[in-house]
Amino acid sequence: MVAVNLCISHPSSIAEQQERLLAGRKLYVDHCSGCHNLHFPKEYTEDQWKSNLDEMQVKAKITDDQKQLILDYLTAQP
Ligand code: HEC
Repeated sequence: MVAVNLCISHPSSIAEQQERLLAGRKLYVDHCSGCHNLHFPKEYTEDQWKSNLDEMQVKAKITDDQKQLILDYLTAQP
């Protein structure tokens, strides 16, 4: 359902941005809830999420693109 071929660097429309956020959310739930409970996006600042994700990337075995999508989702909250 969610398009796999998302344009990573230039989201051109609101719909595309929404799709990226949904894809990031799905990746987060699928890859980050296996070992511990999910953390609320607002628990960490963007910088903290960046370093958390760098640390967890190895554990979760995700690609750089997937990491970026998850980061975008986690830091897009109001
Ligand atoms: C293979 C198991 C595993 C997976 C998968 C995993 N984690 Fe973790 N995570 C841990 C462990 C173990 C800790 C606590 C020890 C540590 O910090 O290394 C932790 C701690 C954390 C913390 C707290 C760090 C802190 O400094 O308090 C966050 C945030 C986190 N993980 C996010 C994620 C995210 C986001 C993903 C998905 C990309 C993820 N984790 C996937 C095992 C995992």
